[in-house]
Amino acid sequence: MATQTKSNVKIINSILKSIGNTPLVKLEKIVPNKHVTVLVKCEFANPSGSVKDRIVDYIITDAERSGCLKPGATIVENTSGNTGAAIAMLAAVKGYRAILTMPDKVSQEKQNTLRAFGAEIVVTPTTAAPDSPEHYVNVAKRIGAETPNSFRIDQYDNPKNPEAHYLSTAPEIWQQTQGKIDIFIASGSTGGTISGVGRFLKEKNPAIKVIMPDPLGSIYYEYFKHEKIPTAANCNYLVEGVGEDHIAKALDFSVLDEVIPFTDKNAFLMARRLVREEGLFVGGSSGANVWAALLVAAKLTEPATIVTILPDSGSKYLSKIYNDDWMLTKQLL
Ligand SMILES: Cc1ncc(COP(=O)(O)O)c(C=O)c1O
Repeated sequence: MATQTKSNVKIINSILKSIGNTPLVKLEKIVPNKHVTVLVKCEFANPSGSVKDRIVDYIITDAERSGCLKPGATIVENTSGNTGAAIAMLAAVKGYRAILTMPDKVSQEKQNTLRAFGAEIVVTPTTAAPDSPEHYVNVAKRIGAETPNSFRIDQYDNPKNPEAHYLSTAPEIWQQTQGKIDIFIASGSTGGTISGVGRFLKEKNPAIKVIMPDPLGSIYYEYFKHEKIPTAANCNYLVEGVGEDHIAKALDFSVLDEVIPFTDKNAFLMARRLVREEGLFVGGSSGANVWAALLVAAKLTEPATIVTILPDSGSKYLSKIYNDDWMLTKQLL
């Protein structure tokens, strides 16, 4: 290997300075439609391993500036694990206490990561209905209300969540593609990523299409089609961090052109292909995003560029997506 000193290798005074500026990588092998370029934004390269570092850093910095977050505070949040990891990391660096609630479907790796950072975690039943006091969002609200000097990130309803993406993820994509982008694809939970990036891209070029894959069993597909929350949605899918059982205020439906339903099998088998064929070690929502990108690509007759997001790292799912026994038990292999 050639040894060469890179001029941009430098010392940074905090791990938090390494948030953002993630690589945008062209998929070389798994796109069968050669006239379509599929570019993936590697958000797993953020220091706590996911896209959520961006919003948590932005919201905490903003709250410190405005005085809403005071020294010695406790940060409380409901999370599917990634926002929790970002909060736990920032709390460790900045000296806050962190209490995080999550449904029990969240992988053990993700739960243990939060503990490793020193956060306290409260696990709730995934089956708890959105109006149940046991639902992880309601538990976080209660803990927040009961804890003196506490601060909630409130990722589902906080406009600062999409704003973080509007100000960081989106301009990076615009710069990295030099504005050559036709379609943006991102599955959503809070909807922060797709809303912030989608709004920015449409302001730059209203012809850009914004598409959200949504797991079967989530409410977003039906809500987008009929503006009604389906009674049959049960959220019993296995992919983590995307789809929802309630409408997040951070999700701006007006930027969406299309919502595409997907299955766990679609998402997980594509994640496994991304690791083995492209060397991208990613989680299930990344698989879903690329699966949808290839579906869209297959229908395009003209050359086009699709950008999608790889929200988190495969290391968070070693006991699940990358465990053949688990995949077989769930009849996914
Ligand atoms: C693994 C994963 N993928 C995608 C998302 C969706 O991101 P957003 O909340 O910005 O819609 C999340 C959010 O929690 C996530 O954890």
